[in-house]
Amino acid sequence: MTKAESDALTDHLWRPMTQHQGLRGAAPNKMVSAKGCFITDQNGNRFLDAIAGLWCVNVGYGRTEIADVARQQMIDLNYLAPIMSSEPVIELAEKLQQLLGFQSHIYFSASGSEANETAFKIARQYHLQSGKSGERRFKIISRYRAYHGNTMGAMAATGQAERKIGYEPGPPGFVHVMPPYPYRAHPKLTAEEHGEECAHLLEETIIHEGAETVAAFIMEPLISGGGVIVPPDNYIPRVREICDRYGVLLIFDEVVSGFGRLGKMFGYEHWNTEADIFTFAKGLASGYIPVAATAVKEHIFEKFYGDPADMQHFRQINTYGGHPVASAVALKAIQIVEDERLDENASKVGTYMMDQLQQSLGDHPYVGEIRGKGMIMGIELVEDRETKIPLGDDKIMPVIGDCVRNGVILGRNSNTIPGRCNVLLIAPPLVLSEKEADQIVETVTAAMRRAID
Ligand SMILES: Cc1ncc(COP(=O)(O)O)c(C=O)c1O
Repeated sequence: MTKAESDALTDHLWRPMTQHQGLRGAAPNKMVSAKGCFITDQNGNRFLDAIAGLWCVNVGYGRTEIADVARQQMIDLNYLAPIMSSEPVIELAEKLQQLLGFQSHIYFSASGSEANETAFKIARQYHLQSGKSGERRFKIISRYRAYHGNTMGAMAATGQAERKIGYEPGPPGFVHVMPPYPYRAHPKLTAEEHGEECAHLLEETIIHEGAETVAAFIMEPLISGGGVIVPPDNYIPRVREICDRYGVLLIFDEVVSGFGRLGKMFGYEHWNTEADIFTFAKGLASGYIPVAATAVKEHIFEKFYGDPADMQHFRQINTYGGHPVASAVALKAIQIVEDERLDENASKVGTYMMDQLQQSLGDHPYVGEIRGKGMIMGIELVEDRETKIPLGDDKIMPVIGDCVRNGVILGRNSNTIPGRCNVLLIAPPLVLSEKEADQIVETVTAAMRRAID
């Protein structure tokens, strides 16, 4: 990279989640191409992307068949105002409804944050148009540790204090509850008792807020960016019962867990429980193009029928919602997941990688817990396995740096919970082979061994 190139990168580009002081005068690596699970930089170095971009490149990099679809759609119809309908967007809505398996309507936008904002607005308007007269349900309950996006409403729902420093106050009406967190649960509780305890906390919160003020509860089936936290099996079905009991809509944020990531097409399938509203992004088009969706069950959509003058319709528009190119690309990406059974591969290779990680790192003094489902794994690092004190940045950053130097890019729950950013994140493309899984395991293991030397 020439000096001019490095200056252009460091002088003008503002990268997310980056303290630029360390980049001054440096020449950050520029990535130039990618194929399968690997990204190549300008010097020809290859990196196994063990976090699939931002856990979104489910079908892997470099799929020319997706590029072909995008090119053709750009030639045929490159844009259409979302108040009109194109063939690809109708087809995509049909496809999602077919995959979900129940009658639904799908509203499209361009990012996970927008999909969640949309869900919140739909939930509020739904209650306004269907609740008892005088009842104004507006509160959104969400969970600590969960990430739901960066826009004001989605940030307010996010339960990660470090993501909010300097940006609050957010909009009012957002309330948080603790999620199940088996690793840090009271040791006397069984997994089931802990699941019950957390569901009970949700119920108590609804009661104490006043159920008639609570519009919706949003949750990821499995907390991803907050540290890969898998709920006990009884928790999600209990949440469903509680939401039903108090007339609270249940929203599943499937932005990460959708489209094969957890080893099934959708994450919630693991718990045989459906929500009222679902949000999708990331894996929807495997990161090939920005696209997101908010799917609502028909009983919700029906409350939006009415005379135009009654203002019962959803009064939101997104310039890039229902984009024909994005829709065509999403359709192709979903087709690849189905044709190549990538959900099954995620389950098979994910289980294999989890076993390998347990074998090679399970007894490491810094490893508190290795957990996950399908092709998403977290390694919680602690100073001491008894006290579970989180491992500090000074020990974690070198592990991540060591992995990158040896060709594997990992994630971490950075800037989430104060003092608890101690989980390494692994969520490669779903096309990962066992050989590539071995490479990840060997590289992380070697880095962890060097960390204690
Ligand atoms: C669970 C979850 N929901 C929502 C979002 C927000 O998506 P976006 O970054 O596309 O706005 C993310 C992003 O990481 C996410 O992980």
